[in-house]
This record gives sequence, structure tokens and C-alpha cells, in this order.
Amino acid sequence: MTSAVAVDLSVSIGALRLRNPILAASGTFGYGLEFSHLVDLNGLGGFVTKGLSPEPIEGAPAPRLCETPSGMLNAVGLQNVGVRAFVAEKLPALRKFDTAVIANVFGYTLDDYVEVIQVLEDNEGVRAYELNVSCPNVKKGGMQFGSDPGLVAEVVEAARKAAAKRPLWVKLSPLVTDIGLIARAAEGAGADALTVANTYPAMSVDVRTLKSRLGNQTGGLSGPAIKPITLRLVWEARKAVKIPILGLGGIETVEDVLEYLAIGASAVQVGTASFTDPEVSQRLVDGLEKAFFEAKLFTVNEIRDKFVAENG
Ligand SMILES: Cc1cc2nc3c(=O)[nH]c(=O)nc-3n(C[C@H](O)[C@H](O)[C@H](O)COP(=O)(O)O)c2cc1C
Repeated sequence: MTSAVAVDLSVSIGALRLRNPILAASGTFGYGLEFSHLVDLNGLGGFVTKGLSPEPIEGAPAPRLCETPSGMLNAVGLQNVGVRAFVAEKLPALRKFDTAVIANVFGYTLDDYVEVIQVLEDNEGVRAYELNVSCPNVKKGGMQFGSDPGLVAEVVEAARKAAAKRPLWVKLSPLVTDIGLIARAAEGAGADALTVANTYPAMSVDVRTLKSRLGNQTGGLSGPAIKPITLRLVWEARKAVKIPILGLGGIETVEDVLEYLAIGASAVQVGTASFTDPEVSQRLVDGLEKAFFEAKLFTVNEIRDKFVAENG
């Protein structure tokens, strides 16, 4: 018997059924099409698009990336083609694939989030929305939407009303005092799932030039360095809400995936690892199937049940 026959890697994120729990993360997989010659998109659980805004954004000055111990910093500045160009130029090609396309949505005002969703609602080809709430709110003096439970509730409620057709995932900021509080605010306002979490604000200086290594001065830390910190956030969020959670932060290996699934993530996303190995998401799907087969686990829920039985 081959492992493919015995192991069922499919997962439900609310009403949305995914082929397996491995998705490529926003901002690290372009609009999916850029990776289609390297990865069988149809073999993934899905992928999340680069963040989409109402108008195109050129992004932050170079340099935009730098390496750090066990990770990297990025300050891309949410560069994207804008939602209308995404619909006109990317979505028609994406419809040819049998994979879950999740549209990552961001804005600087509530109206921005609503506008992006409204444009997408009128078009086929997107399976869910992922709201990035780690964005400065221009009406509140640049305070992040995601750091205040009241603001999170406001943006999720507004998006919920606009997103009549599709599930709404909310991608939380890790820079919060109590992730449970924010998670409950998102759930209470109508989120169907949570994505935990985004990058950590951080900085790196080149002491030879005495300049920041990023054109934007500060950036977001991602990669293996953040995995243990984000893992705890997923664990805390899991205890706070009933809706499914997608975990991401520093995933590179099958063991990393299993750690997130064990503590209660229903699925995971792979970000920075795609920069060093563009085929990593595909490799993780294959490796996960093998690992489940060898451990005599036949559904994704079984690993969580075992962890809960051991640790409560
Ligand atoms: C270059 C880069 C661009 C990103 N752009 C976005 C984005 O547009 N929207 C978003 O929600 N997250 C964005 N992220 C965050 C990732 O989706 C992910 O949350 C983060 O990198 C942590 O996962 P990782 O350690 O696997 O990379 C970006 C990350 C990187 C490295």
C-alpha cells in the first residue's frame, strides 16, 4: 500500500475544504503565477496572494531585504499592482489552476479594506480573503489596526459586511500584549479563521557605514528565528477562540509543520523558506504525507488529539 492511499491530508478551514494543510504565505509567493513553473500549484493546500490595496503601491526604497541570524528582515512597503490590475491581469490565469487562491487584503483606512473586497466579490477565482491588520491606520495617527481590539473589531465588521460571498480570515499582528484579546475581538466581529502571525518589527545596522541595512530603516523579522515565539502565540490564540487557526512563522521542515499542527493550528503557511527553496511548499506536502504514514496517523486531527491528550 502506498502512503497516498492511506493518509488523508485534507483539512477544513470553516466551510472551506483544502486538499492539504500547506499554503504559501502572502508576500513570499507573488501572485502564485511566478511560482507555477517551479511548484505544482494544484498540489498545494493553496496560496495567499501578495497584499492587495485599492490603488497600486510602489513600495519602500531599497534595500528592502537583509539577512539576520536565523532569519531575515524585509521592508517591501506592501508593493502591489492594485486590486483592479490583479483582477484583470492575474486572476484569469489563476482560474486555470485547481488550488485555493486566498486574497490578502490591506488598507490604511476602513474604506480601503472594503473597496478591495468589493472589487474581488464581483469576480470568480478567489476562495477566501485574508485581512492583514498589521497596517498603520491613517485616521488614528498611524497606530496599527491590529494592536487594538476595538480597531480589529471595526475593520473585521466592515470587511465582513463587504465579504458576503466568501470566508474571511484575519491575519493578526504578533506585536500585541494579549493575542487572546485580539483573537476574540476578530472572532466576535465575524472572522471565519485567524492567521497567526505576521512579521515582528525589527532593525539591523551596518556598523561600517553606520546606516540601517534597510532603506525604510525598520522592517519585519521572519524565518526560523521567530518560530518559537509565534508557536506560543498560536497556542494562546487557540485557547481563546473556537474558529480555525492557520499558523505561520519560520516553517522550513516537516517537523516545523507538525509542531504547529500539534498545538492546534488547522493548517500552516510557508513564507521566508520559499526564498531559499522555491519548491519548499511542495516538498513539505510530500514529506508530511510520508511522516503521517510512518507515524500511523491518518488524518490531521489525530496529531492534535494526541498532543492534547499528553499536554491538556
Ligand atoms: C518579503 C515579504 C513580504 C511580505 N508581504 C506580506 C504581505 O503583503 N501581506 C502579509 O499579510 N504578510 C506579508 N508578509 C509576511 C509573511 O506572509 C509571514 O507572515 C511572515 O514572513 C512570517 O512567516 P515566515 O517566517 O514563514 O516568513 C511578508 C513577508 C516577507 C518576508
